[in-house]
This record gives sequence, structure tokens and C-alpha cells, in this order.
Amino acid sequence: MAMPWLFLHSAREVAAGSGCASRAAEHARKRGCQRPAMVLDPWFAGSEAAKSIAAELREACGNTPAMIAVPAGEPDLDAVESVRAALAKADPDLIVVVGGGSAMDTAKVARMLLSNPGPAEKISGPAGAPMVPHPSLFVAIPTTAGTGSEVSESAVVSVPGTNYKMIFRNQDMTPHVALLDPVLGVTAPAGVTAASGLDAVTHAVEAFWSKFANPVTDMLSREAMRLLASGLPRAYSKPDDLQAREDCLIGSMLAAMAFNSANLGLAHAIAGSLGALHHVPHGVANALALPHVSAFNETATDKAKEVGAMFGGGTASSAMFRLRAQLGLDRSLDEWVKPDALDAVAAGAMRSGQLRCNPRAVVVEDVRDMLERMRAPHG
Ligand SMILES: [Fe+2]
Repeated sequence: MAMPWLFLHSAREVAAGSGCASRAAEHARKRGCQRPAMVLDPWFAGSEAAKSIAAELREACGNTPAMIAVPAGEPDLDAVESVRAALAKADPDLIVVVGGGSAMDTAKVARMLLSNPGPAEKISGPAGAPMVPHPSLFVAIPTTAGTGSEVSESAVVSVPGTNYKMIFRNQDMTPHVALLDPVLGVTAPAGVTAASGLDAVTHAVEAFWSKFANPVTDMLSREAMRLLASGLPRAYSKPDDLQAREDCLIGSMLAAMAFNSANLGLAHAIAGSLGALHHVPHGVANALALPHVSAFNETATDKAKEVGAMFGGGTASSAMFRLRAQLGLDRSLDEWVKPDALDAVAAGAMRSGQLRCNPRAVVVEDVRDMLERMRAPHG
């Protein structure tokens, strides 16, 4: 008999297509918003696209939006505090975040702290502490296809000066409206398209073979894999291919809808440890781990065959090695981590809650062995 299962979803609206970012202003008009605020990725803050969304919001709300740039880098509590303080000053009834996963996660937590004052620890925890919802309309416009944070109910923020990442999870954190506008991503550097896209691929694959997958998440993961397998290499090699960009945005959104309920697995456990201890960028860490994790999991789940077929044939691991090579992500772990630090990385990965979702049980020696293999750039 099938295991009992649970599917969670909390976004009210998802729209996709060139120019759909303008729906933010339409919502503002319909709802009578008067105090808009925009939270922006630093590289996107001065762009023409940002100015154009701001102009539409000004016209719809009758007031110029407060423009709040998220400090550069991986999201941490200092960045959250800086955005929270700026939002508190603006007292917004509409918050529009435009950016990648870091900007979206920062905005999600900063917004919740407006209605839940006090230290962030109070509302953190993977199980989801009770939170008072903030009354603002919350719109997310992703500029890269990767985390799918625009439809997920969680955010991950590091604690400065430590190796600790704080997890926040609550359905009231999910943006109400997600607008997937492919035009916004065409200026992203190719390396960002590749690494964030590989993160989305890892979400789709790990949610698909997760022990907590269910019929709804399977449907979402399969379509996410199909779209990413076709769209990601095209978006990487031809940045202005809008159809490819849109396929990647939809793929990453569907993958996030899947992992929001099915959770992730061993590749994210390793990527989390590499990010926390050695600041390996999240997408790159997944690119390093996923082919080896696939080889490890192949014997434990029939779904691996489907993963291989979805990404061009062969085993899941050979397909993942091929994909990352196509995206210029054939790198060696030695670029980031000294060999004598690998034991600590393995120990960190073993502490991850994601391991309980992985289709094959794992012990520390398995992870250590995979980390050793990750030192060779070509598997
Ligand atoms: Fe991820």
C-alpha cells in the first residue's frame, strides 16, 4: 500500500511570459496599494528593467516605490536586518522583490520580521514556528531560474561569523504572486545561468526520487526535468533565447513546488555543508555533487532510469556528468576545499535533515568517498 502523503502549496498566482512583470502594477491598482517598496538584487538595482517596473508601480500607486537594494553575497542575517530596517521605514502595503534566490530569501524573512518583531531566531526552524502574517501584498519576480524561491515557503539565511544556516519555513512567507518574465534574465552572466539552472535541476531530480515524493510532486518534477533538460543548455549558449529562459523559469518554479513537499536529498546535504564551511556557491556545489550522488542512488531507485532518459539517455549519473560538462561546470572540488578539510565537510553533510529523504541510506564513509571523487573535474 502507498504511504500516506502530503502536498503543500501556498502561492496564489503564478504567471509566465514576456512582459508579465507588469502584472505587479496591475495588482497594485486592483488592490489600491499606495506605499510600494521594491527589494532588488544589487546587480539589477540600476537596470532599465528595474526602472520600468518602478515607473509602472509609481503610476499605479500614486507614489514612488522605496528602492531597497539587497547587500551583495549569499543571504545572511545582516542583509536581512538591513532590508528589514528599510522596509520598516517605508511601511509598505506592497512589496515587490526582483532578483535571484538570495534577494528573494532575504526579502521573505525581512518581510516576516515586520509583523514578528524581535530576533530572527524566534521565527526560525524547519518545522515552521507560528508567524503573524504581514498584511502587504507580496510579489516575487525572479531574474534567474534556480531556487524557485518565488513559490516555496522556505528561506535559508546564514548567520554571520558562523558556519550555521538558519532555516525559515511558513506558508505565510510564500509570495502571493510569482511573475516569471524571461526578459529579465537575458543580461545574467552565463556562469550564473548555468549554476542557478543546475540548482533547479538538482531540485527536480532530488524531489523526484525523494522518499517523500507523491503523485503531485512526481508530476511537477517530471515536467521540471523535461523543461530544464531542453531549456538550460539553450539558455546557457544563447542568453537572449526567450523561450529557453521561460522554459528554465517554469522548470525551476515547478521543481520548487515539488521540493516544497517532497524535500531534497544527499546532493543538497553535501552542497549545504560545502556552502556553510567553504562558501562554495550553491549551484556549483550541486554541480559538483549531483553526478556522484546519482551514481550512489542509481542502485536504490527505479526512478533513476527515468532521470537518465529525461536528460538525454544513459544512466542518471552519466546524464548528469554530460549536462554539467555542457554548462561549463566540470570543476574540481580542490578549487574550494583543501583535501585535509574533507572529513569536516562529510561530517557536516551527515547532520543535514535532507538525508532522511534520500532514496538510499548513507553513512559518513559514503559521503567521504563521494567528496574524494569530486576532486576530479571529469568524474
Ligand atoms: Fe538548491
